[in-house]
Amino acid sequence: FQPSAGEQFRPVYHFTPETSWMNDPNGMFYLDGEYHLFYQYYPDSTVWGPMHWGHAVSRDLTHWEHLNVALEPDSLGYIFSGSAVVDSKNSSGLGTEETPPIVAIFTYHDPNKEKSGLVEIESQGIAFSLDKGRTWEKYSGNPVLPNPGARDFRDPKVQLFQGKDGEEFWLMTLAVSDHIEFYSSDNLIDWEKIGEFGKRIGAHGGVWECPDLIPMKTPSGELKYVLLVSINPGGPQKGSATQYFIGDFEEGVFTPDDTMIRWMDYGPDNYAGVTWSNIPSDQERVVLIGWMSNWLYAQEVPTKTWRSAMTIPRSLSLIDIKGTLLLKSEPVAELSLLRKSSYEIEVQSALPSVATELTVDIDNEEPFFIHFRNELGEQFRITKENGLLSIDRTNAGISGFDPDFAAIHSAPMSWPAKNLRIFLDAHSVEVFVNQGELVMTSTLFPNSPWKEVELSENLKNAKLFSLEK
Ligand code: FRU
Repeated sequence: FQPSAGEQFRPVYHFTPETSWMNDPNGMFYLDGEYHLFYQYYPDSTVWGPMHWGHAVSRDLTHWEHLNVALEPDSLGYIFSGSAVVDSKNSSGLGTEETPPIVAIFTYHDPNKEKSGLVEIESQGIAFSLDKGRTWEKYSGNPVLPNPGARDFRDPKVQLFQGKDGEEFWLMTLAVSDHIEFYSSDNLIDWEKIGEFGKRIGAHGGVWECPDLIPMKTPSGELKYVLLVSINPGGPQKGSATQYFIGDFEEGVFTPDDTMIRWMDYGPDNYAGVTWSNIPSDQERVVLIGWMSNWLYAQEVPTKTWRSAMTIPRSLSLIDIKGTLLLKSEPVAELSLLRKSSYEIEVQSALPSVATELTVDIDNEEPFFIHFRNELGEQFRITKENGLLSIDRTNAGISGFDPDFAAIHSAPMSWPAKNLRIFLDAHSVEVFVNQGELVMTSTLFPNSPWKEVELSENLKNAKLFSLEK
């Protein structure tokens, strides 16, 4: 693997824009065999700026084809994060019965109003596509949901919802500064507020962003709703992170089961993740992708021609650990398609490539460690000890761009770790314990690629896979 100039940290199998700045994933929907991924994009720079929606499609969530920018800023503002739905009954009237529209719902952020010190700078707009997402036209009556007087009023996640009486309606979950608001609509154009949640519960160390409300079955078959809320700053590792609530949802009222604060990923670099809409029910899965960065340092990381990657896509489900429901995120099955050669290894081994997966079993509850090293003596360490899983990037390469980057990040884990799946790519590591019962995602910028791995002796059946596209 020989990266070209300036491309040293370009991932092999993680999604990145070809050039320029990217942040949140947006508007993901599935249609006719294609997974669409849009993303916050500023084509003119490698730092954040006037936001567009970049666009890519994939048939297997691992090989992505870059498409034209889908949405550009206009007189109403930048195009911030949002979602997209297939309006199969043409409820919006923006298509026809034969050609139902795909409707994207996004936030307009008006920089002119912001400059003049106004508060009401964010509103919701829509755009539609009649050609399977290839081209988009903005709705002429935008904004469809004007600002009611809130500074932060953004990131609409829309889904088709069935009310108590069996009637279908569109439900929008929206982040409003320090809480969530729910809106309903019959046509994706006229919206009515039906509830709010969260002012006095959950983590509040920063602004609430990028929500998602996901119906999910518990292991015993009960229907629950998982409410994802990204928060920045105020995450468990400083800066950005995604918290979630588990509860019931009815008629605009979300009732959490308890007051526990839960985090979807305990690493420092998984933010603003949301799920794909319109995945056929026979797939029986909920798929999420996150932005693999952190607002603490996203604009300073040492990549040259582009900035940021997405996490690997993850399949979400609920698990019951000692009577507590938690959200499990496991790598989607398609990632196994990337496995090329495999090697069974003992306690020390060379790594086959920068894109490597390591799987191990753990046959006792003793502390364990895994160290990755390069030829410069830099290392990245994973340990489990005293009920804590820790990842240590204090000596893992370039870190001077931010005082918080070189740190040890820990997560509480009070139940046994039985196996690990670890995904390494050119500037990241993703650690999945027990198929995703605990996850830690971290970016890393080693000055030369990881060359070898060392494992503690209680790790068994260790296997390395080189991953190729
Ligand atoms: C989250 C976020 C969103 C917003 C977008 C702007 O990272 O701040 O709330 O829509 O990024 O790019």
